[in-house]
Amino acid sequence: MACRKWMSYLHFDSPADNLLFSMGSQNGIFACLASLFQEGDKIATTGVTYPGLKIAAKTLGIQIIPLSLKDNAFTRDSLDYVYKNHNIKGFYFIPDFNNPSGEQLSWECRKMIGDFCTEHSLPCIEDCIYSLFQPDPLPPISAFAKDQGIIIASVSKIMSPGLRLAIMRVPKQYASDISTTLYSMQITPPALMMQLFTRLVNSGRFDEIRGLRIRELIRRNQLFDEIFSGIRNNGHENSPIRWLSLPDSLKLSSMEFEDYMLKRDVQIFSAGRFVVGNTPIPRAVRISLISEHNESRYIEGLKILRSALSH
Ligand SMILES: Cc1ncc(COP(=O)(O)O)c(C=O)c1O
Repeated sequence: MACRKWMSYLHFDSPADNLLFSMGSQNGIFACLASLFQEGDKIATTGVTYPGLKIAAKTLGIQIIPLSLKDNAFTRDSLDYVYKNHNIKGFYFIPDFNNPSGEQLSWECRKMIGDFCTEHSLPCIEDCIYSLFQPDPLPPISAFAKDQGIIIASVSKIMSPGLRLAIMRVPKQYASDISTTLYSMQITPPALMMQLFTRLVNSGRFDEIRGLRIRELIRRNQLFDEIFSGIRNNGHENSPIRWLSLPDSLKLSSMEFEDYMLKRDVQIFSAGRFVVGNTPIPRAVRISLISEHNESRYIEGLKILRSALSH
């Protein structure tokens, strides 16, 4: 019941039979890749993506192909291109606030991907780790690809990083393979964690936690906007990440800038960590708005970063 409720927050209604627990998104991503693809297969995603996907794919010998963009967005042509020219076997997307670039897929884009996956019978792994930071998220891609869409909805960011759990919605055709792989990796997540999750969700306590987290995130985004006014960056009031373009006046590459900031005790991640395939490395860095729990230290970190940009 708690897992069905969790999916309902994403506006997705799923029978309990299609829901599985993994030990966090990373574990779920690995299980999907290992179950659905063979060594040498290719899957497609955005030109910059979550590094954990890259590591998992590399470990399993799966190649990741970046989607081409037109006017900063991918189109049906981008999907057709990778399908025809790279014989891709599936997709991975972060529909809400792509890590690192912060973009959100529009309703139309979700439908386009869902329709494409249905048409070509391609699995679509959808990482909804940041979706619940919005009070009313858009429907997931899986809503448009009921037989192909896999939702991985972690609790780590919106509830607690210590609760290493994600709820996975898996269509019937992949359920047995993915659940066998999860079993081979973990047998089952710790019962204590599943119990805690279930109680927090069923008692309504999670709704309170989520409300607080959303309010805190909006405040952190406002603080960010005040401190970085006039600096080009990509974000949204409900996004826990910002993607900041480095000004031309700064004479450091994004990787050098990451090192420079680390020496000043501020951790940011440079674009090179996130690029896929031969995508040119953007001159940008990713900033997490939620990793630092203490608000004064968060503000201090942003100020150090802001002043470093002017050097
Ligand atoms: C997009 C994305 N997916 C997955 C993960 C890992 O999540 P989990 O802690 O649930 O394994 C992260 C962590 O930062 C992430 O940014």
